[in-house]
Amino acid sequence: MSTLIEKYDNRVLFMDNAVEVHGLVKTYRIKKKHGLLKSSTEIIEALRGVSFRVKYGEVVGLLGPNGAGKTTTIKILATLLLPDSGTARVAGFDVVKEPDKVRRNIGLMLTVEKGFYGKLTGRENLEYFAALYGLNKRKATERINHLIKLLELDKLGADVKLFEEFSLGMKARLSLARALLSDAPILLLDEPTLGLDPPSARRIRELVRELARSEKKAIIYTTHNMFEAEIVCDKIIMINKGQIVAEGTPGELKDKIPKLKILNLMIRGRNNLEALLKNIDLKYEFKIEEGDIFNIKIHSRKPEDILGELLKKLINNGFEIITVKIEEPTLEDVFIYFSEGAQ
Ligand SMILES: Nc1ncnc2c1ncn2[C@@H]1O[C@H](COP(=O)(O)OP(=O)(O)OP(=O)(O)O)[C@@H](O)[C@H]1O
Ligand SMILES: [Mg+2]
Repeated sequence: MSTLIEKYDNRVLFMDNAVEVHGLVKTYRIKKKHGLLKSSTEIIEALRGVSFRVKYGEVVGLLGPNGAGKTTTIKILATLLLPDSGTARVAGFDVVKEPDKVRRNIGLMLTVEKGFYGKLTGRENLEYFAALYGLNKRKATERINHLIKLLELDKLGADVKLFEEFSLGMKARLSLARALLSDAPILLLDEPTLGLDPPSARRIRELVRELARSEKKAIIYTTHNMFEAEIVCDKIIMINKGQIVAEGTPGELKDKIPKLKILNLMIRGRNNLEALLKNIDLKYEFKIEEGDIFNIKIHSRKPEDILGELLKKLINNGFEIITVKIEEPTLEDVFIYFSEGAQ
C-alpha cells in the first residue's frame, strides 16, 4: 500500500513508489564491419536483470566501474531508451506505456549535455526550456531567478555569457538548473559533479541533500567519487557488468567486505623485513617508501590483536616505528572489492 503524502502541482505523490525497477534487461547491438562485405553483430549485455526501489526523500547512488550500466539505467528511467525486458515505474507510471507522464515527473541531468543553444545566454536557455515544459511566463521567470541564484550562476555571468562561452562547471550548473526547472518530484542525475572544482561540487552535493530533505524529492545519483557518494547518498546500489552486486547504506556496505581493517605502519630500519613478516599468518604487503623507510599494510579483522607482538618484534630487530595507523575500510575499498567481481 502506498501512502499519499501531498499533491504536487496536480500530480499525486505516493510515499513508497518514486521509482520501482524489476528485472531490467538491456542489450545493445553493434554492427562490426570486417572488410568490405562481411559484418557481424556484437551483443553487449548492458543490464542483466536489475531491480531496485527509490522512495521519496531518498538519495540513491548508483555506483560501479565504467561500463557497469549506470547511464543505461538512468536513460531507461528517463524514457530515452527502451528496455528489452523487465519493468520500470517512475512516479507510478510505466516507462514504456506512459512515457509522457513519466517525463512530466522527472528532472534529468546527463553527463553529455545536449540541447542547449550555444548562441543563447544561460538565462535564455532556461527560458527556452521553461516554455518547452509549458511553464507560464510569470512562473518561469520566478523559477529561473530562483535557480540562477540557487546555483550561483548569476555570480558566474550566466545572464550575459553565451552558452558556448560557458566553462565546464557553468554548464554543469546550468544543466542542473534545467533539471530543476519544472520542480519535478524525481531527479535523475548522472555524474552531476563530473569535472567540477571542489566548491562547485560541494554546492551541488549540498543542494541535492537539501532537495531530498526539505522537498522530499527522490533522487538517483551516479558518481565515481566515493567520498561524495558517502555523504550524499542514503543508500548505495553497486552495479557491475549489468548486475547489482551489493546494496545498502554506506555503513552496511563496508560491513560486507571481508577486509575489514588495515594496519598501516611506517618504520625505519635495515634488517630483513621479509623474513620477519613471513611468520605472520595474515595478508600483508610492504614497500620501500624511501631509503630505509618501509610502509607495511596488514589486512585483518582485528589488527589490534597482533599489534603489540608485531611492534615488539620490529623494535627487537632494530626497527624504529615512525607511525602506526589502523584504517577503517573506505567506500572505495568496497567499490574495488565488488568491481573485481567478488561477492
Ligand atoms: N549506445 C550504445 N551502443 C552500444 N553500446 C552501448 C551504448 N551505450 C552504452 N553501451 C555499452 O553498454 C554498457 C553499459 O554502458 P553505460 O553507459 O550504461 O555504463 P556506465 O555504468 O554509465 O559507465 P560510466 O561509468 O563509464 O559512465 C557498456 O558496455 C557500454 O559500452
Ligand atoms: Mg555513465
